[in-house]
Amino acid sequence: MKILIIGSGGREYALGWKLALSEKPTKLYFAPGNGGTPYFGENVPIKANEIKALARFAEEKKIDLTIVGPEEPLVLGIVDTFKKRNLAIFGPDRFCATLEGSKIFAKTFMDRHHIPTAAHWIFEDSEKEKLISFLKNSSFPIVLKADGLAAGKGVIIPQNLDEALDAVKLYFDKKSFGTAGDKIVVEEFMEGEEATVFVLTDGIQYRVFPVAQDHKRIGDGDTGKNTGGMGAYAPAPVCTPEIMKIVDETIIKPTLTGLRGENHPYTGILYIGLMITASGPKVVEYNVRFGDPECQVEMMLLESDLLAAIEEVVSGKLVSDLKFRAGFASVVVAAANGYPDQFEKGKEITFGSKDNPDKRIFHAGTKLAGGKVISDGGRVLGSVGFGETLEKSLERAYQHIKTVSFDGMVYRKDIGKKGIEALERITK
Ligand code: AMP
Ligand code: GLY
Repeated sequence: MKILIIGSGGREYALGWKLALSEKPTKLYFAPGNGGTPYFGENVPIKANEIKALARFAEEKKIDLTIVGPEEPLVLGIVDTFKKRNLAIFGPDRFCATLEGSKIFAKTFMDRHHIPTAAHWIFEDSEKEKLISFLKNSSFPIVLKADGLAAGKGVIIPQNLDEALDAVKLYFDKKSFGTAGDKIVVEEFMEGEEATVFVLTDGIQYRVFPVAQDHKRIGDGDTGKNTGGMGAYAPAPVCTPEIMKIVDETIIKPTLTGLRGENHPYTGILYIGLMITASGPKVVEYNVRFGDPECQVEMMLLESDLLAAIEEVVSGKLVSDLKFRAGFASVVVAAANGYPDQFEKGKEITFGSKDNPDKRIFHAGTKLAGGKVISDGGRVLGSVGFGETLEKSLERAYQHIKTVSFDGMVYRKDIGKKGIEALERITK
């Protein structure tokens, strides 16, 4: 079976690793892939947003199944394009992908279907004065979000009116987020712990992955700038079975039923970012793909054959259950010096110890050059540990990352701390 995986991060490496373990013999292609994906298949020099070139490649190579990693091609409508050409593809259509492509679309969808989320108000750049007077009458912190895709950087949380007015300038005067910030959503600030639910669905049936917790800030103690994610673990103790039952009834089911009712059943992976507030779980955001690095821990935990599950979804008949290893997985991300701002590339990476079923290095921003692996992105790699306890999984991830090195390598030292604290709270 010929499979094309679109993307180049740790997520796509993790998917490739897991697919290569499938029962069916596969030939994997990665577009464009990274320095580690050639372990499992062939890298093809086509970028993830070059939809026409990807479709042409899939036709020429007679690809049996395409799996989309990142959001950009999904939001651009790659699934609609492939389906029109009778090419099998795993991911949501353009309508569903707008749940990630437009925060306003996502909010109005949640309003229509009474899905719990933060109270919100929408402003266009022509309404700057109205927005300013709204902010003058608001309490802080408050949350401002660019409507469109902004690589996770479009959210600003001002602590006071001065910061809020500076943020308005960034969106509407300086156009720091381009057209993605032509409209913004102002949201009530929700207090609580964040968690991420990944739902695999064919539009009707669905399976839920172990709930994950990401670490978005660059610095220990959740300080410094927002990143794509510096570490994660699953299952997250903060999402107790009682909370998951509420999430299922008030969020997952109405989301899938709502999309079906709007004639766009969701297929693929739906990422639901949650805030567990004192008044119950609420949606922070929808994404329309696996998170990265969360995908790395999910693949480390997944026991079932990933390809079989994806094929069921693509054929519209998800019947099998997903099985997971009993235990925890954690990932610690090693980033390049300077990330998430300007960072260095081209540093040689050395790997000290071998991978085994309980600890693995997942390539992300790497490439091969002259027989060497060198850094080529902000988040360079992930060290994933599995353990019977959360502590053990973290210990293995940290042990393993210490054997890897490149110039300027940085990583957080406190991944999973919140999870251990939550466990202590719950078991007290
Ligand atoms: P988003 O891109 O919508 O996920 O927002 C990025 C991050 O901003 C989230 O992971 C949260 O940490 C934070 N955030 C977003 N919306 C809210 C909100 N309404 N209340 C509190 N924090 C928020
Ligand atoms: N780690 C967060 C994301 O993939 O959006």
